[in-house]
Amino acid sequence: MKEKRGRVTRDGIRIHEPEDFAGMHKAGRLAAQLLDEVIPMVKPGVRTGELDAYITRRVEEEGAISATIGYRGYQHGSCISVNHVVCHGIPGDKRLKDGDILNIDITVIVDGWYGDTSRMYVAGRPSRKAERLMQVTHDALMKGIEAVKPGNTFGDIGHAIQAYVEAHRMSVVRDFCGHGLGRVFHAPPNVLHYGRPGTGPMLEEGMFFTIEPMVNLGGPETKVLADGWTAVTRDRSLSAQYEHSIGVTAEGAEIFTLSPAGKFHPTWEA
Ligand code: MF3
Ligand code: CO
Ligand code: CO
Repeated sequence: MKEKRGRVTRDGIRIHEPEDFAGMHKAGRLAAQLLDEVIPMVKPGVRTGELDAYITRRVEEEGAISATIGYRGYQHGSCISVNHVVCHGIPGDKRLKDGDILNIDITVIVDGWYGDTSRMYVAGRPSRKAERLMQVTHDALMKGIEAVKPGNTFGDIGHAIQAYVEAHRMSVVRDFCGHGLGRVFHAPPNVLHYGRPGTGPMLEEGMFFTIEPMVNLGGPETKVLADGWTAVTRDRSLSAQYEHSIGVTAEGAEIFTLSPAGKFHPTWEA
């Protein structure tokens, strides 16, 4: 879709208008609400395809559109990535087992605006190392968001994430990145989850993008399976991911995909 207003930077990054934040907020909020709704469904024995079917039905009920169905031939309303799957796991007939950790990633379109978010879930009880991985990944995302303010650079975001993750002796995946979004799903820039301070494009008020670090307990290397989508860790170590869609404000960042139920992190549940 052609956009009429606003401007684009030298790096091809769109600068949105103040009134555009409301559109992103609405889309982001629905995506986050649907991720809240599936929390009680995630249990040992459930099929990932059942979780996906619920999400797909609810997106329709809300009068929204799933951005992933039909995207480059992808056929599902969510990506569900279990254990050593890094991202783009395809929902299916496999049942969750006690202790499995999984990322559910959804993108909805509301009034033309895209809301893209993912978070971790646990079937039953996680191992200590899985719990630690999820905690570090979540906190790394928030460190990245803390680096967002006009005048900082995209390298500052990547550096904040990488430094935090590596201080915990885990690794940041290099093969996938965050992205600009707005009235489109994937736009410039590539938001790297590693980098050096002061490098990359300067952040400006009105930029909309995702931050979605993938963190591995082992090495950072990944490979894509024969289905063309499922990305796994090469060493089969556990992987976790959290994703928010955000907008740059005068003071910092507005997070569009905050959990309405305050349950963005599984270990927050009693
Ligand atoms: N939501 C993913 C992202 O964060 C993209 C999924 S594309 C799909 O960018 F086709 F795999 F669904
Ligand atoms: Co994304
Ligand atoms: Co996503």
